[in-house]
Amino acid sequence: MKKILAIIGSPRKGETYNAVMKFEKALNDFGPAEVEYIMLSSIALQDCTGCHNCILKGRESCRETLKVRELQDKLLSADAVILASPVYNQHVTALMKKFLDYFTFLWHRPEMFDVKFFGISSGGGIFKEVFKLLRSNVESWGGTWVGELGVPHYDSLTAKFRKKCDRDFNKKAGMLTKAMEVKKRPVPGIGRLMMFNIWKMNAKAGKDYNPADYAYWSENDLFDKDFYYPVKINIFVKTVTGIIFRIARSFMKKVYVGYDEV
Ligand SMILES: Cc1cc2nc3c(=O)[nH]c(=O)nc-3n(C[C@H](O)[C@H](O)[C@H](O)COP(=O)(O)O)c2cc1C
Repeated sequence: MKKILAIIGSPRKGETYNAVMKFEKALNDFGPAEVEYIMLSSIALQDCTGCHNCILKGRESCRETLKVRELQDKLLSADAVILASPVYNQHVTALMKKFLDYFTFLWHRPEMFDVKFFGISSGGGIFKEVFKLLRSNVESWGGTWVGELGVPHYDSLTAKFRKKCDRDFNKKAGMLTKAMEVKKRPVPGIGRLMMFNIWKMNAKAGKDYNPADYAYWSENDLFDKDFYYPVKINIFVKTVTGIIFRIARSFMKKVYVGYDEV
């Protein structure tokens, strides 16, 4: 039985919730799967105060640490995580955004290397910005973005497009099921390698300013590594990344203090 966690950023059990339930049904056509539903409205995270403690001192110093820890443990132990949000003004809801904000420390110190994420959104039909934001967060946390499903208002669709919508559920459920079988961590491309190198440079430059980041890089012995986990990187990708990174580093040295030694 696959255990899937769904984090739902709608303030109500409406179309987004129904879309996730329909997706759970579609997943079960490919094998037993059970979804745990978390309504962010019932978690009721307080507003982030912007104290930066999670980034500079560690997750435990956040005023919502108990909730964040519980959510993070659930994310790490699921076979896959669905992040679901309706479209609000072309974007995610404030509830979903707040959830992402509480995990900002994972941009600095990624941990989700074995977690597969899938996005679901409901709305009029334009989902681009929702998935772009969700994906950039997930990948920055170290996770793998498996795919996404935008769900338009079913009742207003013509018979032809209802069929297409049903087919999409089936296709994407198959895609996520397949992805859950993959145990190997992905080989990073130029983009992810660049981000690795940039965060490494920032950790060195901010040694005194951000002790939590520096501790993560030194305790995990990452300063001399090519990536967060052992992986064979194609020589072409490595060379191109090296060139782009040197350009980025010389820019940082010109613009910001503290980058002379990195
Ligand atoms: C404040 C607000 C803003 C919205 N903005 C958009 C939008 O920009 N684009 C869109 O397609 N739908 C928009 N909608 C419609 C919702 O995305 C759509 O009805 C969605 O399916 C609602 O999901 P829910 O039932 O889970 O709340 C908006 C709805 C609300 C309440």
